[in-house]
Formats: sequence, C-alpha cells, structure tokens
Amino acid sequence: MKRIYLSAIVFILLTFIFYINSNFSQEKSKYQYVGVEKCVSPCHNSEKLGSQYNVWKSSRHSKAFTILASEKANLYVKNANVKENPQESTVCLKCHVTGGELDSSYFTATYKKEEGVTCEACHRQKFITKTFLPKEKDCLKCHNNSVHTVPEFKFKDKCAKIAHPIPKEKTQEK
Ligand code: HEC
Ligand code: HEC
Ligand code: HEC
Repeated sequence: MKRIYLSAIVFILLTFIFYINSNFSQEKSKYQYVGVEKCVSPCHNSEKLGSQYNVWKSSRHSKAFTILASEKANLYVKNANVKENPQESTVCLKCHVTGGELDSSYFTATYKKEEGVTCEACHRQKFITKTFLPKEKDCLKCHNNSVHTVPEFKFKDKCAKIAHPIPKEKTQEK
C-alpha cells in the first residue's frame, strides 16, 4: 500500500516538473519579431542617441532582402540548387531576413521581411543589458560559407563598418 502511495507521489511530481519545463522552453523560443519601426520610434533615431536607424538604413543589412532579386543572386541560386524564387526560399531567407526560417507565429503584424537584416537579428533584449550587444558568434550564424562564399569575417573591422554607438558626451549632457 505504501509503495503505491509513493509511486503516485513520484508520478505526480514528475508530471509537474515536465509541465513546468515544457512551459518554460516554449516561452523562451517564442520571441516575436516586431520589425524595425518599433525600434525606431521614438528612441533610436534621434541624433542625441546616435541615429541607429539611419546608420542601419544606409548599411547593406537593410538591403539584404532586395539583393535576393539581383543577377548575382540568380547565380548563387543555381549553385545552391534552389528551385524557388530566392525571396521566397528559406535557404536564402534564413540569412538575408531576420527570422527568415521561422513561420508567421513568430512575427507581430508590424514585421516585414522586406526590411532584411534588422535590429532584432542582432539585438534581442529590450534594454541595454550585457546580452544586448551581439557577439562574434551571433554574426557568424550568417557570415559563413554554407550556401555561397562570403569574404573573410573579421569581427572588429565588420563591427566598425556598421558602428552605431550611443554618443558618449551627448548622453552625459542631457
Ligand atoms: C541574419 C543574418 C546576419 C547577421 C546575424 C549578421 N549579418 Fe551582416 N550581413 C548579412 C547579409 C545577408 C549581408 C549582405 C546584405 C547585402 O549585401 O544586401 C551582410 C552584410 C554585412 C556587412 C557589409 C559587408 C561589408 O563588409 O561591407 C557588414 C559590415 C556586416 N554584415 C557586419 C555584420 C556584423 C558585425 C554582424 C554581427 C554583429 C553581422 N553582420 C550579423 C547577414 C547578417
Ligand atoms: C549562411 C548565411 C547565408 C545564406 C544561407 C545565404 N546568404 Fe547571401 N550573403 C550572406 C552574407 C553574410 C553576405 C554578405 C557577404 C559580405 O559581403 O561580407 C551575403 C551576400 C549575398 C549577396 C551580395 C552579393 C555578393 O557580393 O556576394 C547576394 C546576391 C546573396 N548573398 C544571395 C544569396 C542567395 C540567392 C542565397 C540563397 C541561395 C543566399 N544568398 C543565401 C549570407 C548568406
Ligand atoms: C548586424 C548586427 C546589428 C544590427 C542589424 C543592428 N545592430 Fe545595434 N549594435 C550592433 C553591434 C555589434 C553594436 C556594438 C558596436 C557598435 O556600436 O557598432 C551595436 C550597438 C547598438 C547600440 C549602442 C549600444 C551602446 O551602448 O552604445 C544601440 C542603441 C543599438 N545597437 C541599436 C540598434 C538599432 C535600433 C538597430 C536597428 C535600427 C540596430 N542596432 C541594428 C549590431 C547590430
């Protein structure tokens, strides 16, 4: 009799732990992408804070979706044996668009794939925390030779090319 009791308790405990666990991992993986506009207004396009939007807009990341319609893209498509339109193929979109390999449940209504590689491809936290800034390995998810060759990736140099820091003196002024 005691044994049955004990196994019942263990069973209930295990079920509970599994339940909590699955809930946790679900929540973790369910980050929903909001698109660029939400990051821009009203914070990240003031000169005082570093005009991150303008810097991004003039970078190649903002054109990463458009470039999939170029002639060079056709060449890569052939080499990669992609049969669909590259702007619709997850093979290409997974690096050329934020969340390009994910289904629509990961996006809010403001998300647009046309925006290409957006803030959220590199920044997933809402506020400036230690984990707000991407590390080299975050860039290498895309800057690698898996589908077509890309120039060698030197983290520091490449970060300098897209630099959009919050100006130091200016933040102290206010
Ligand atoms: C989601 C994929 C993705 C991530 C993550 C990513 N990139 Fe890119 N990056 C691209 C794509 C795609 C292009 C090319 C876009 C084009 O040419 O239209 C590109 C282009 C660039 C360029 C322009 C090429 C050049 O050398 O002038 C720089 C610089 C760059 N990325 C730096 C970075 C850095 C630094 C990181 C990490 C902090 C990073 N990228 C993270 C996909 C990504
Ligand atoms: C593993 C990530 C990744 C995948 C998958 C990927 N690309 Fe890219 N692509 C990049 C990166 C990173 C760059 C920028 C390289 C640089 O200049 O530093 C780039 C650049 C380009 C460019 C810019 C032109 C150039 O000079 O090379 C084109 C066009 C392109 N990709 C087309 C495609 C097509 C078409 C596909 C699908 C068949 C594809 N890419 C799949 C990461 C990827
Ligand atoms: C390709 C990756 C990438 C994209 C896209 C990107 N960032 Fe960044 N961001 C970085 C990196 C790397 C740094 C740290 C070095 C630097 O300033 O470039 C940074 C720094 C920042 C900082 C400054 C933090 C500080 O303490 O100075 C802010 C704010 C920021 N990003 C906001 C944005 C916004 C808003 C967008 C979109 C409009 C954006 N980022 C797009 C990679 C990216």
